[in-house]
Amino acid sequence: MTPAVEPPDEVTIARAATLLRDGGLVAFPTETVYGLGADATDDRAVARIFEAKGRPTFNPLIAHVLGATDAHRLVEWPAIADRLAARFWPGPLTLVLPRRRDCALSLLASAGLDTAAIRVPAHPVAQALIRAAGRPIAAPSANRSGAISPTTAAHVVDSLGDRVDLVIDGGRCVVGVESTVLDLTTSPPTLLRHGGVTREAIEAAIGAIAAGPAIGTPGALHSPGQLESHYAPDRPVRLDATSVGADEGLLAFGPDVPSGAALTLNLSPSADIAEAAANLFAMLRALDRPGIGRIAVAPIPATGLGLAIDDRLRRAAAPRPQG
Ligand code: TXA
Ligand code: MG
Repeated sequence: MTPAVEPPDEVTIARAATLLRDGGLVAFPTETVYGLGADATDDRAVARIFEAKGRPTFNPLIAHVLGATDAHRLVEWPAIADRLAARFWPGPLTLVLPRRRDCALSLLASAGLDTAAIRVPAHPVAQALIRAAGRPIAAPSANRSGAISPTTAAHVVDSLGDRVDLVIDGGRCVVGVESTVLDLTTSPPTLLRHGGVTREAIEAAIGAIAAGPAIGTPGALHSPGQLESHYAPDRPVRLDATSVGADEGLLAFGPDVPSGAALTLNLSPSADIAEAAANLFAMLRALDRPGIGRIAVAPIPATGLGLAIDDRLRRAAAPRPQG
């Protein structure tokens, strides 16, 4: 069974808002990736997200709101949050802050933590949906847990099928990697996940921040979602490939492309890192197909947005959990 996939018109937004208020699941476009949305104030609706994704319940979700005024009602709001919100909202920056005592967000959305992650998406369809629903929307990426994040409505359908009640088709996501997650409960703030807003841009706005734990650091999972294996295609992934085998699919970057791969897709022939981010998940999916034994990935410069790409690729290549 496939779910309803509808264009982002007024009728669809109204129907989606009703579904959300009734505890349903709606997949919707954001500027980063598609989100799997539920009413963030409803424990049962939030539980359905974990069930649909097959996600471990210890991994907390981001609540999506319309702006800083909404955020003030949910979380404690330090002065530094004002500066970040003024500079980066709406946009791909998620802030982790202490839940207010009267916070309306489901405790399950925070996975039992006393903090909540808040984001204001820049996508007009996401904003229209939050406005019509009249409440914060909890939304992880709209894929099965551990798999590649979706940047088109078709990816959502492939990954979740009828586990979602409605998919709003807003076309391709322009940023293509998830939001940057910044923990404001530490001083200085801690970068928990590289994403659409670069570390350099954040530091230009508020000064030096701390780096989160390196991938694979034992016992150092500050952001519970930062499990090592994630974004995983079915096929194994080989990083920093400067030559390729005939059974490999090559994810290339820039003008110098080694020859001999079964299939080559180029993240950005002109070595434009923003274009590469936007293409990343769609091209990983396209290479994950019969006739290809392994996905080889060319080196990507690990600066700016390249850090977010590098992070996703390292997780895609990480050893998979057994079973
Ligand atoms: O771009 C995005 O952020 C997308 C779109 C749909 O908005 N959403 C997304 O959600 O990527 P998700 O659930 O795939 O990733 C949320 C990340 C996880 O790494 C999670 O552990 C972290 O945010 N997170 C959420 N709440 C947190 C909290 N209270 N403390 C620390 N980390 C938190
Ligand atoms: Mg995700």
